[in-house]
Parts: sequence; structure tokens; C-alpha cells
Amino acid sequence: MLLLRTGCVLLLLMLFGRSLGESPSFTVDYQNDCFRKDGEKFQYISGSIHYNRIPRVYWKDRLLKMYMAGLNAIQTYVPWNYHEEVPGLYNFSGDRDLEHFLKLAQDVGLLVILRPGPYICAEWDMGGLPAWLLKKKDIVLRSTDPDYIAAVDKWMGKLLPMIKPYLYQNGGPIITVQVENEYGSYFACDYNYMRHLSKLFRSYLGDEVVLFTTDGAGLGYLKCGSIQDLYATVDFGPGANVTAAFEPQRQVQPHGPLVNSEFYTGWLDHWGSRHSVVSPTQVAKALSEMLLMGANVNLYMFIGGTNFGYWNGANTPYAAQPTSYDYDAPLTEAGDLTEKYFAIREVIKMYSKVPEGPIPPTTPKYAYGAVTMKKLQTVSDALDVLSLSGPVKSIHPQTFIDLNQAFGFMLYRTTLPMDCTTPTPLSSPLNGVHDRAYVSVDGLAVGILERDKVLSINVTGKAGSQVDILVENMGRVNYGKQINDFKGLVSNLTLGADLLTNWTMYSLSIDEAVMKGLLGEKELALFDPPQPADLSPPAFYGGSFVIPDGIPDLPQDTYIKLSSWRKGQIWINGFNVGRYWPTRGPQMTLFVPANILSTAAPNNVTVLELEGALCGSEPCTVEFTNTPILNATVQSDYKQHRRLFVKEDLL
Ligand SMILES: *[C@@H]1O[C@H](CO)[C@@H](O)[C@H](O)[C@H]1NC(C)=O
Ligand SMILES: *[C@@H]1O[C@H](CO)[C@@H](O)[C@H](O)[C@H]1NC(C)=O
Ligand SMILES: *[C@@H]1O[C@H](CO)[C@@H](O)[C@H](O)[C@H]1NC(C)=O
Ligand SMILES: *[C@@H]1O[C@H](CO)[C@@H](O)[C@H](O)[C@H]1NC(C)=O
Ligand SMILES: *[C@@H]1O[C@H](CO)[C@@H](O)[C@H](O)[C@H]1NC(C)=O
Ligand SMILES: *[C@@H]1O[C@H](CO)[C@@H](O)[C@H](O)[C@H]1NC(C)=O
Ligand SMILES: *[C@@H]1O[C@H](CO)[C@@H](O)[C@H](O)[C@H]1NC(C)=O
Repeated sequence: MLLLRTGCVLLLLMLFGRSLGESPSFTVDYQNDCFRKDGEKFQYISGSIHYNRIPRVYWKDRLLKMYMAGLNAIQTYVPWNYHEEVPGLYNFSGDRDLEHFLKLAQDVGLLVILRPGPYICAEWDMGGLPAWLLKKKDIVLRSTDPDYIAAVDKWMGKLLPMIKPYLYQNGGPIITVQVENEYGSYFACDYNYMRHLSKLFRSYLGDEVVLFTTDGAGLGYLKCGSIQDLYATVDFGPGANVTAAFEPQRQVQPHGPLVNSEFYTGWLDHWGSRHSVVSPTQVAKALSEMLLMGANVNLYMFIGGTNFGYWNGANTPYAAQPTSYDYDAPLTEAGDLTEKYFAIREVIKMYSKVPEGPIPPTTPKYAYGAVTMKKLQTVSDALDVLSLSGPVKSIHPQTFIDLNQAFGFMLYRTTLPMDCTTPTPLSSPLNGVHDRAYVSVDGLAVGILERDKVLSINVTGKAGSQVDILVENMGRVNYGKQINDFKGLVSNLTLGADLLTNWTMYSLSIDEAVMKGLLGEKELALFDPPQPADLSPPAFYGGSFVIPDGIPDLPQDTYIKLSSWRKGQIWINGFNVGRYWPTRGPQMTLFVPANILSTAAPNNVTVLELEGALCGSEPCTVEFTNTPILNATVQSDYKQHRRLFVKEDLL
């Protein structure tokens, strides 16, 4: 009897428990216009953090700070090209360890809104799509193009089973999963593509998970972006009339929770445009209005982080984003607490409980000071160590992808077919150079061609003189129709009236050469030809510095400043810190996280300066400071009366 009774109670408990949602559940309640978590009404207050823009050692610190701000969720993209750089070779280790990131979020007490793409925009190279997709020259990305779909299916077949155990109903932190990204802003409007993705996600993740789409807050965007069976959400910034901005979502999604998937806390930057700032007051006010309405909000970004290496994207007309993705977010690029952070925390406090206890402090920064840099080889001098595969020859120029190179730099070499005794124009058609070409003739720097900005330079020299053109990929377009962004010389160049032909092209593995310390000093026998005052051929510089003894808690984070330099790329101990371009701005310093520094050996700084350092007779130096400068006056050498990015309308 007693036994039986216990049995009954247990059974009742199980039934009762389940009906209350004791086995985890996360659903859309269409009757009451809200989400339900384990049966309870639930409103999320989330913040975007991209693990791919933050060193792994700092993930926990940043997540804790987000938790302490009162957020109950985070949102992240998964950049496909970061995990599958070479077709079929996946990398989920170290800084790319997505599962570790998901576990940390859960440990800290945060739910996760996952946005696995395949396209993510995100001011990330090619919107997260791998450049190798362009091997098929006429591929229609983000559509039912069979080659695109085959690659997507293969990738999702790897990614989605990996994240399935992390779904909320399976005991993990992921409450919702986004399909594609702002598809309604893309020209293709291929509903079959969205239906295919929807089925694909369901087949791997099951019927329970809430799948959703995000589009600009306008019916025009939602038209091609939303489809049946995917919950439609919108995105808009603090400048919008919140009530009006949610109306398009309501029209498409008459019932269910209001969701702003990207509420802009700041905005992106471009080289040559002013640094974007959005006031904390404005952000706090609009956030408060949305929370009062019971809307679910994701703050994009809560911490922007850094486009290390070559990962930045670009908008059109072509304008690349800088290395810093600070975004004027509530936590700075380096994870520092800001006035905006505390303003947001105060707003959240009015609507929900904010955790008590100390907030992890801003990490200290250290000014290691100036480091003398010695000139090493030029790129042209170092081809034997830079071009491991050796050159490829062809009559007409080939692109990066033709030579199986995704990022960085490629060298195109040919000879002058005739005597150019008077200045002769070397020209590309509009958009023929992707993205910047540093031209020299017999070792003498003669000029720079730049995508849709500088289409012609003058050249002089004898027939047979060697023409070296180093072409820089400054980041692939990540938004709009032009995401099929081939790199290199994508058109023929002309010299006077003639087509330049017979190219020898060097694919360059600069990162590998830097990592292995292969770049040497210039051989004494090789004298630099006298260069024009304002330009010299792309060259490497090297220097090193020792972390001082006897100061506690070193190494600490720092910023590298290259005041007397022009444009290029920086590595520290082989880690590619990113691009610098102080002559254009607005970013003047690059974030250097402490984890790449060493106390055991001198730290090696390598700089590839593309235009020529402006050190004069002094030795060239770089400086490590403790203060970031992201908002210097922009020195645009071209007119910028143009609109860059339609979403600016939604601010
Ligand atoms: C995978 O990515 C990590 C983090 O960027 C990197 O350290 C590692 O070398 C990569 N592994 C391979 C095999 O490329
Ligand atoms: C905001 O939009 C709503 C709905 O369209 C409208 O009724 C209201 O007047 C607007 N508020 C302001 C301040 O413009
Ligand atoms: C090239 O030289 C010609 C003749 O000296 C001059 O008229 C022209 O402006 C120059 N073009 C450029 C782009 O410097
Ligand atoms: C270069 O010109 C040749 C001959 O006109 C043409 O066949 C080729 O497609 C051109 N290449 C590019 C990249 O435009
Ligand atoms: C290009 O190379 C071919 C074959 O080597 C040669 O016949 C031709 O004259 C070259 N053209 C130029 C402009 O040098
Ligand atoms: C810097 O380069 C030197 C010389 O190659 C090497 O001994 C040292 O270990 C390097 N430093 C670091 C931190 O890797
Ligand atoms: C740049 O930002 C700093 C720090 O936020 C601020 O003190 C300074 O006034 C800003 N300068 C400009 C030119 O906006």
C-alpha cells in the first residue's frame, strides 16, 4: 500500500512536473504574444557578442560583464568562412571553439540566440560565406543555385548536429535559432532557398526549436525575408519610433512576441569616414520604451571586438571596415565598462532583477613604449620565402581565387612592352582593381591604383623594365548585391593604348613567412633605388620589445600606434593583429590583447608597410600606448558624398 502510494505520488509528480514544463521547453505563445520558457512567460534582454572577434581567454570576462548588466541572453553569429577556410577542413579549436563558447555562456547563466547563417553579414569578410564558393565564377550566392546549396548542405550537416545538444530543450542554452540573415534586403528573393534552409534546419534540429528570421523594420524587407514556419522578427536602432517600427512585424506576424533582433547600440565604421557614435541617453530611452512594451530585445553589439587579421568586410560603393569593431558598444573593443554600459544596466533594473555583486573591472592597459623598427626586405625581394607554391604564368591576369588564395596580398609581375619616355597612363577600368594596387617599375614605386577611386597613374621606363604590382585584398563586400567579390586584378590593365599581358603571378603566404621568422634584412648588395619623396615599394619592418621585470600582472593588454606610418598590416609574435591606415583614419591604434604577448622571450613586431613609412632621418618606431584612438579626424583623399549602407536609414 505504502509502496503503491509512493509510486502514485511519483507518477503524479512526473506528470505534474512535465505539464509545468520541468523538462526544458522554449516556445512561442501566440495567444499571449510572448515567449514561454518552461511554461513561464519570458522576455529576453540579450546582447550580441561575436566569439570570433574576441580572444578565447577573454570570453568568460566579457560574458560575465554581460550577465552583470542584467542581460538574460546573448546572441552570436557563426561565421562559416571562419570554420571552413578550406573546403571540407573544419576548425573548431582554440579561438574557434564554438562549443566551448556555448558552454561558457551557459555556465555564466546566459541563454543563447544562435545565428548560424549560412550568410551573416556582420561586417565580416563576404558576410561569412567562404571565398572558395567563388571558384564557380557565376555562382548565385544565397539562392537555390545547386552548387551553393550543395556547399550549404554539407556545412550545415557538420554544424547543426554539433549544436543540437546545446538546444534549450536538450539541456543547453540555445533558445532560438535564426535562419539566414536579413534575406529581404537581398536582390534574389528566392523563397525556395529560404524553404530549403527551413527544412534543413528542422531536419537536424527537430520540430521543437524556435526558428526565426530577422529583417529590416519595413514591409519591403519582410516581403522577401519572411516565410511561413519561421518566426518573423525585425531590427532597428534607437532613432526609430519604437511603436511604428514594430508595426511591420505585427503585419507579417499578427500574433506572438515583439522582437527587435538588432537594436543598434552604436554603428559600424569605414576607413575614410568619421567614427560612429550613438549617445547612451538615446540608447537607454529607446531600450526602455521597448522593454515597457514587453518586447524582446537584442542589443547589437553589446561588445563589438576586433576584426583581427583580414576578417573585416566592406560596403559598397567600396569602403572597407577598419580593424576595430568597437561599434561604440556598451563594452569597448577591449571589454572596458562604459557610461553606456551603466546606463543600460539602470534601464534593465527598472524591468527585471539585475544580479548583485561586483562587476568584473575594466582590465588594465600598459604602455610598453616605443619600439625601434628596422627595415627588412621588400615584398619583391622576399618572393622566394613568401611564395611557397612558386609563380603562375598567364597571358591575362588571374584572380586570388584562381590561384586558390583567399586573403592578403598577391604580386602581379610583367614588363613594360615599350619605351615609356614620357609619362604614360597605366589604367584599369572602373572597379578593375580589387582593392588596392601598389605599383613599382624596376624597384621604383610609381603609384597606387585603388578600386573605383584611382583608376590611372603615370609610368615611365624602358621597354623590358620589370613592373611589380602588389594587390591588396582589403576585405570582401559583406552586404548587398556585390558579395561575389573577386580579388586581385579582376580586369586587364592598359598601358597607353595597349593591353598589358604576359603576367607572372605570385600567391603570397605572408602570414606563414612571418610566423616562421623567414623575413630577413635587406642584403647589403641590394641598394634601394632612390624613391620618389612620397612613396616606396611595399616592405617589411621588424623590431622587438621585452616586457619589463618587476611590474606585477604583466603582460597586460595594450594598443599599438603607428603615427609615422601610412598603411599596412601588423603581426605580433606571428599573430596577425590587423590593418592600420592612420593616413585615412578614423582608427589610429590597434588593440593588442595580452594573450599574444610573452614574458619568456622578446616580443617580435613585424610590419608590412605598403606605401612607405614617414620616419625621415629618425629610425622608424611603433608605439605601445594604454589609450585607444578610434575617432581621429578622417583624412579622406577622395570625396565621400555618398550613401554607404541602406540600414543607416533605420538608425
Ligand atoms: C584553428 O584555429 C585556431 C584558432 O584560430 C588556430 O590557432 C589553429 O592553428 C587552427 N588550426 C588549424 C589546423 O588551422
Ligand atoms: C510613433 O508612431 C505611432 C504609430 O505609428 C504614432 O501614433 C505616434 O504618433 C508616433 N510618435 C511620434 C513621437 O512620432
Ligand atoms: C600623366 O601625365 C600627363 C602628362 O604629363 C598629365 O597630363 C596627367 O595629368 C598625368 N596623369 C596623372 C594621373 O598623373
Ligand atoms: C583581358 O582581355 C582579353 C582579351 O581581350 C579577354 O579575353 C579577357 O577576358 C580579359 N580579362 C579580363 C579579366 O577582363
Ligand atoms: C607574351 O609572351 C608570348 C609567348 O612567350 C610572346 O610571344 C609575346 O610576344 C609576349 N607578349 C609581349 C607583349 O611581351
Ligand atoms: C622572437 O623571435 C626570436 C628570434 O627568432 C625568438 O627567439 C623568440 O622566441 C621570438 N619571440 C616570441 C615571443 O615568440
Ligand atoms: C574621441 O574620443 C575620446 C574618448 O571618447 C573623446 O574624449 C574625444 O573628445 C573624441 N575626439 C573627437 C575628435 O571626437
